[in-house]
Amino acid sequence: MALKKKRSGLLKRPKSITGSQIVPRSIKPQNARQLIRRFHVLEKNKYIIIEKIKKLSNNQLLKIDNYKETLSNNTLFNKVYFPSYEESKSKLNKKSSELIKIDDSLTESELFKTLAHIDAEIDIRGGLKAYQLASTQGQNGKRGGDSSKKLVEWLNDPQYKDKLEDANALEIGCLSPDNDISTCGLFKEIARIDLNSQHHLILQQDFMERPLPNNEKEKFNLVSCSLVVNFVPNPSLRGEMLLKITKFLKKPTGDNVSCLFLVLPLPCVTSSRYFDKQQLNKIMEYLGFKETFYYEAKKVAYWLYDWTGSVSKKDQKFKKKEIHSGSNKNNFHITL
Ligand SMILES: C[S@@+](CC[C@H](N)C(=O)[O-])C[C@H]1O[C@@H](n2cnc3c(N)ncnc32)[C@H](O)[C@@H]1O
Repeated sequence: MALKKKRSGLLKRPKSITGSQIVPRSIKPQNARQLIRRFHVLEKNKYIIIEKIKKLSNNQLLKIDNYKETLSNNTLFNKVYFPSYEESKSKLNKKSSELIKIDDSLTESELFKTLAHIDAEIDIRGGLKAYQLASTQGQNGKRGGDSSKKLVEWLNDPQYKDKLEDANALEIGCLSPDNDISTCGLFKEIARIDLNSQHHLILQQDFMERPLPNNEKEKFNLVSCSLVVNFVPNPSLRGEMLLKITKFLKKPTGDNVSCLFLVLPLPCVTSSRYFDKQQLNKIMEYLGFKETFYYEAKKVAYWLYDWTGSVSKKDQKFKKKEIHSGSNKNNFHITL
């Protein structure tokens, strides 16, 4: 049985000062989409601010998941952050979505204030729990469906099905143990993890903190990473996540399956200034993945990749580079 462990890494999300995060029971589809988008913006800006504070304070230990502890002895932080948090919390409401301005002119004190403002907005909106609720509603059949349905459809193709005996899977970012991936009966065992577990069969764990497997037995035939990479607040951490996934996949032998199910919101690959399907596939090829299936739904893109068993040894870098211009583009990308 999966036990709740002490939070570490990304799991150690700061609690609200007042401890009050009001999570609604259900969210209308339009509000759910808006909440998901806003949550991504807030997390991304938070990451940028923390990187700036890290530079200004020359504190290499500072991270998105530990800034409150790490700065607990910083007089300026204590003087600015906590009153600003309370002030923002009293002013903000669930619909607030002000533009967050971050540039190089911001002083350390202004950065603390902006950070407090973002934290207050996250808490007012119900925190990670509300984000998960919005995502779960996206999984509800009537509202778009469980993305693992597509995976199961693909795995029933003979090229996979015939090799799935005794197969196991790791589901990163699992909202429910009742999704098709768990109920299809194709897997002998499934390890389910999430930053915020909502079920005793889901281990509360940050994948980036998950200890590496010690041997082949501890690895998986399939890793499912559906709508998780876009949640990661920084392009290089997204690349690290994909690289880390390769360390959890079994070596392909010809008789087994070794693959990755990846799902991203469609605009990540169709409307980004710095990214598209070709760029993703270049990164995936470098990591040793070969695309076997691809499907584009209205809002989401799905891939099934076979892992060839090794990451390229070439000294190649995938950097941020504008490939599509236009004012209506988003900034999503992955670097490696
Ligand atoms: C948008 S939801 C997607 C859930 C589900 N996989 C789906 O396709 O609908 C993203 C989930 O990924 C989880 N998540 C994000 N980063 C993670 C990480 N580093 N380790 C584990 N879970 C993570 C979040 O907590 C959240 O529950």
